[in-house]
Formats: sequence, structure tokens, C-alpha cells
Amino acid sequence: MASILSSLPGIPFGNSERTRECRNSDDMVDFYRREFGRAPLLVLTNREPIVWEGAGTLSCPPGGVSSTIHRLLGQVGGEWIALRDSAGPDLLRVPPPRESPESPGYLLHRLSVPRELRDAHYAGFSNGVLWPFFHADPERIDASPDTFSAYVQVNRRMAGKVVESLTTLSPGAVWIHDYQLALVAREIRRMAGDHLPPLAFFWHIPWVDIPTSEGLPWLSELVDGLLCHDRIGFQTEGYRERFLETVRLIHGSRASWDGERLSVLTEGGLRTLSLGVYPVSIDPSHFDRLSRDPEGIRGAREILREAGLLDSGEEIAPYLISVERMDYSKGFLERVEILEEFFTRYPERIGALSLLQVAPPSRQSVEAYRRYAGQVERAVNRLNARFGRPDWTPVRTIARSISQEVLAPLYRSSAGALITATKDGMNLVAKEFLACQRGRDGVLFLSRHTGAAQTMEGLTMIDPFDAPLSARLIHQGLSLDPEIRRRKNDRAVSAIERNNVCRWMADNLRALGSISVSAGR
Ligand code: G6P
Repeated sequence: MASILSSLPGIPFGNSERTRECRNSDDMVDFYRREFGRAPLLVLTNREPIVWEGAGTLSCPPGGVSSTIHRLLGQVGGEWIALRDSAGPDLLRVPPPRESPESPGYLLHRLSVPRELRDAHYAGFSNGVLWPFFHADPERIDASPDTFSAYVQVNRRMAGKVVESLTTLSPGAVWIHDYQLALVAREIRRMAGDHLPPLAFFWHIPWVDIPTSEGLPWLSELVDGLLCHDRIGFQTEGYRERFLETVRLIHGSRASWDGERLSVLTEGGLRTLSLGVYPVSIDPSHFDRLSRDPEGIRGAREILREAGLLDSGEEIAPYLISVERMDYSKGFLERVEILEEFFTRYPERIGALSLLQVAPPSRQSVEAYRRYAGQVERAVNRLNARFGRPDWTPVRTIARSISQEVLAPLYRSSAGALITATKDGMNLVAKEFLACQRGRDGVLFLSRHTGAAQTMEGLTMIDPFDAPLSARLIHQGLSLDPEIRRRKNDRAVSAIERNNVCRWMADNLRALGSISVSAGR
């Protein structure tokens, strides 16, 4: 295999230049222009980045992936293809983010697919099969017949839209996101050959351990589809390692890896691509600014009042915060167990510390999600009945999504964030929380099973599968000298600043501009 590798044309690497500075959106735009000149970036996601609310009013849907890229693409300019979720025109010019009104914004192509096909792709295969599989929860897999074929068809339609747009657009790169679109690149190559702009992919969720991989009959097709990119980005070293193990399992000695570049002799020919580790991030100064904004603070106080955490004297009661879609991978039930342990072991905390749980409903067309939401509600009610008092409730749930503007001050005035995901590709809430805690002593309690826990500092690591240990760690964390906590938070925010979302984007796209358009890549 070494000889095959050495005869390959040079494919640029993702990681080798990671240290280059990219501190803010201006640096990122500069980077992009150096790399791709005036050629626009073409982004593909499953979820569209806006919700059409009529008469040209747009809002952002919850969900980290779309809102992260929405701000980046608005600043750098380009085009975006996504599946349509709300009414309005097929083509929309999305204005730049509020904080950089002079940026170009982007053009959004909203692809419509028939309802049934869309459901089978999204609720059926993406979230009924792939999501539980890659979140190591195989018992929740609901592999109804035909959903894989719907998945392929929707990926093919997305690919068709890309190929159609390539007739008029010469993008610097096509950047495809997430498990819902793993086969788009394969379909693009089948339709248009190899004379294409660079195809980059980011896998936002975890990659499973090998023993679990046996449970997915479509795994090798999915992996071969992913191999059709020129680069794949992963959140952590561990996920990249496991992906490589899966490739080796499927392709044996036909696959070879030199630390950055993977070559695989597949049935479709030799594929060569780079695999990078780029933990997704946020813009911490944006969150810091929001956390101090008077309008957001007013909104946050309304939420606190609604949750009974603001008394008549406008005094905020101490609370921990958790923010996530109602999803079984976020460990809502495990969190209730931890709190049960916590209030049992430390009765002095009863009446003195609540949890504010922001939990918008998610993927309600998937049976496993509906069932889970019911279980969580019952568990929270049990906990509240057991420990609650007439004037105090342990867990307050806000079952709708809250804008970043309001969330940021809520993070800032909390005593800590409690993140109990049983499996999570990254978890941006951890980073958002810390960004709003500059100079403050709130504590980040973060599940060890998140990508964030593997890649960041300034946290108290807990384990949602070990409630007694986690309860003890929460108690200890909250009892620590506030000055030590403040220093820890400030160090952590500096680290997030160095590894911010602009750098994430630059790392993903770096050196792709020099890929020559050649057959057989
Ligand atoms: C989380 C996941 C992403 C997913 C997103 C939106 O952020 O990590 O992988 O794309 O949720 O999910 P949704 O199903 O609501 O579009």
C-alpha cells in the first residue's frame, strides 16, 4: 500500500496548518479570499437556516449546526442549499448577521421534496436509524422498510440541485454537513464525474465503536459515500480513529492511512482524501456581548419570572441551567437521577438551588422522541413532588426554544450549567455558557461523554451514568472558592477564543482551494 500512496497526487492536509491565527470574522473573510478569491462557498445542510414567518420575516430555528453556519456564511458570502421546512419562496436572499451589516449575506435555495419522502428521509432513516446508531443507542433504532431508499433519493435530489447550480456557479468549495446528507457527494460524482470543485464534509455527531457498527446493514454503503469527499472533518480525534477503524473493517488492506491522508481502493476506483479533527466552536465575544445586552437581560428576567426564579423584590434565586432539544441522547432522565441523589445527600440544597431546564420539543414525528418526552415529564414531576415545597420547585422546564439574545444573560446569571448528555458530538451549550461567564464564578458541569469534554478546559467533568459521583462533584464544584472558579472560567474563555468558530471554518476549508480539478481524485 505504501507504493500506491507514494504515487498519489498531493492532496492538501487539513490539520498541518492549524496553528495559523484566525481570531475573528475579519480574519476568516481574509482567509477565505486568500484561499478561494471571489469564488463563493456553497453550503449544504438538511435543516434550513431560517424559518419563514410570512411577509419576508425570517427567524432562526433551534439546532447548533444551521445557526452556526448561518452567521459564518452571512459574513463570507455564498450560496446555501437546504430542504424546505416552511412556506415562502424557493429562493431567498438572506441578509448578513446584525453585527456585520456590511457583509454580503447569502442566497438560500430551498429544495422541496414530497412530504412522504421527506418524512422517510428525516424521521425515518436519519433520525430513526442513523441518530440512535451513532449515539450508541441501538435499541432505539426503528428500521422501517424503505426508509434507506428514501434517504438515498433525498441525497440524490440534493446532489441534483448542486449539479444544476454548477452550470452557473463556480464555487470555491462545496461544504456538506452532517449525517442526513452522507451520500450527496457520491451522487454528485455519479452525475457529474470528477471535474468538480473540492467537496468537503463535516460529520457533526459521534462515530461509533466497532462492535456497535455490526448492527447497521447500510454501514459500508454509507462509508463509501463519505469516501467520495476530498476532506472529512470530525469533532474529536476519537471519532476520526473510530471512522478509520470502520474503514479498515470494511476495506482491510485496500485502505491505507498516513496520519492525515486516507487512500482506499474501492469498487468505484481509488479514493484519496484528508481526514481532519476540527472541534466545532462558537464566537465567544458575540455571546459575551449578548450576555450584557439590556434588552436580552429584560427578556431573561421575564423567563426567570415565568419560572418562579425572580422574587417580588426582583432578586434572582440561585439556579443551574440546562439547554437542549428534548432528545434521549441529552440524558434528561439521567439528570433527574443525579438531582435526586444531590438533594438526598445534601438536604441543605433543598429550597436553595433549582434547575432551569430549557427543553424545546424536537423530532416529534419520531415515535422514540414522543415516548421519551413523556418519560421525562413523569420523572420531573416525581422529583418535584418528592423534594418541592410550596414556595420552591426543584426543576422548572421551559418547553420552547429561547433566542440566543435571551439565553446569554440566563447563562450569565446562573450558578452553573448542568450538561448530562449520554453521547454528544460536541455540545456547544458548554462553550456558550463559559463565554457568558467571563469574570463570573458559575460552574460548568459537563458530561464526559461529549466531544466538548474531550476538547476543552474549565469544566467539572461528571458522568450521567454515575449519579452518586456526579451529585458529589456538583456539590464540591459549587463549594469551591469563587475566586478559583472565576480564574478557571477566564482561562477557559481564552481557550475558546483561540479555538473559535472562525478558525473551525478556516481549518475545514484550508488548502482545499489548491486542489486541482482532476479525474480520479
Ligand atoms: C444537533 C445535532 C446536529 C443536528 C441538529 C439539528 O445540533 O448535533 O447533528 O443536525 O441538532 O437537528 P434537527 O433534527 O432539529 O434539524
